[in-house]
Amino acid sequence: MNISLVGAGHVGLVTGACFADLGNQVVMVDHDTKKIASLTQGRLPFYEPGLEELVHRGVAEQRLRFTPSIREAVEHGLLIFICVGTPSRPNGEADLSAVERVCRDIAKHLRSYRLIVEKSTVPVETGAWIKRTMRSLVRKGVSWDVASNPEFLREGSAIQDFLQPDRIVLGVESPRAKQLLLELYKPLKAPVVITDIKSAELIKHASNSFLAMKISYINAIAQLCDRVGADILKVAEGMGLDQRIGRAFLDAGAGYGGSCFPKDVAAFVRIAEKHGVDFPLLKAAALINTAQRTLLVNRITEHLRGVRNKVIGILGLAYKPNTDDLRDAPSVDVIRTLQKHGARILAFDPKAMAQANGLFTGVTFCRDVYETARGADCLVIMTEWNEFKELDFARIKRSMRQPLIIDGRNIYDPVALRRLGFRYVGIGRGDAGD
Ligand code: UGA
Repeated sequence: MNISLVGAGHVGLVTGACFADLGNQVVMVDHDTKKIASLTQGRLPFYEPGLEELVHRGVAEQRLRFTPSIREAVEHGLLIFICVGTPSRPNGEADLSAVERVCRDIAKHLRSYRLIVEKSTVPVETGAWIKRTMRSLVRKGVSWDVASNPEFLREGSAIQDFLQPDRIVLGVESPRAKQLLLELYKPLKAPVVITDIKSAELIKHASNSFLAMKISYINAIAQLCDRVGADILKVAEGMGLDQRIGRAFLDAGAGYGGSCFPKDVAAFVRIAEKHGVDFPLLKAAALINTAQRTLLVNRITEHLRGVRNKVIGILGLAYKPNTDDLRDAPSVDVIRTLQKHGARILAFDPKAMAQANGLFTGVTFCRDVYETARGADCLVIMTEWNEFKELDFARIKRSMRQPLIIDGRNIYDPVALRRLGFRYVGIGRGDAGD
């Protein structure tokens, strides 16, 4: 099938490269001409495991190409996916200006039937707005459909999530739109939920918000574990084996970050309010999440008896492993607060160093874990990268000024580390008073 995607960000690029790999002819457009130029030369704007290979293969086998021309994309794609960003406005509402601009551009260039598919995360009723815009701008006699097809890709495992989805959600309002999307997704052999556009839009926000809520729930339980001396890992295991609950997204720690959960929770609260529905559950989830960052800073401060002039080694900067994304990463807040209180920061991340360089001032970036530990008063784990899990702890202990590990992602065994002579503090490991 001929398909076009507008917006070569994380979602657009993964989706486009995967569709091309499934044998479709894919054109990707972005108004950032520099990005298009570097993609054309095979350089990706961010790190995502396996994506570079997939893009190179698509380009080499002439199933994937990049263009700065929206006209070219509209002419090419029978299906046109909108994958542009929907950042937060200061009041939490989603900023839809990019979606609006793209719709107008598509409408202007439409000459024959096209299916416009919303993939960007948008508030419910955006589809209705797109339809109104199209109706007013598309030339008479040209037919089109609008559909909603939310994405559920996680950064760091986006290709696998695309190729083996738990479900595909199609919000469609015509037999033609339904048939086109079913045909496109047929090779994936995944369960398909077919519904109207508004319900599809809601499924996306409701799913992300639910997962964020699950994380905040376990973080609240973790605080209780610390007070009473219980172990959150066992509590999560015991809860998670109940199939109605499930173990996924019950990892307590520094809390959620990234470009999706914080923004989507805020937007969902606003959407509900706009429609007269108060959503205290979600407001609490957001508050608990912010509090986890403060809690980490407090733990560090408490265990170091103040952070002024202390050297703090931060392991992991990305908001989660297998990405170089620092958007709303807990590490950013934690580092800035520690700096404000006079701490000296050493930091290392396996993939996010280039991004971090432009974001922080006064941070000493290290080449690896061992350099980060050298002379440090404490090591703080902010991202659970696999390479942090097995380390030469004897070497680390020898090189640190104080053998203190604050494990913001609960990746270590407290007993083993204490046996090696470390002071270990996790989140919800029953050791707040250690
Ligand atoms: C999330 C959703 O999981 C995807 O389904 C969705 O498509 C995507 O947002 C989006 O809307 O585009 P993502 O933000 O890439 O994906 O990453 P997640 O794996 O969901 O993690 C989000 C944050 O929650 C990370 O900071 C992670 O460290 C944190 N987290 C996750 C926890 O603190 N505890 C957990 O148990 C799980």
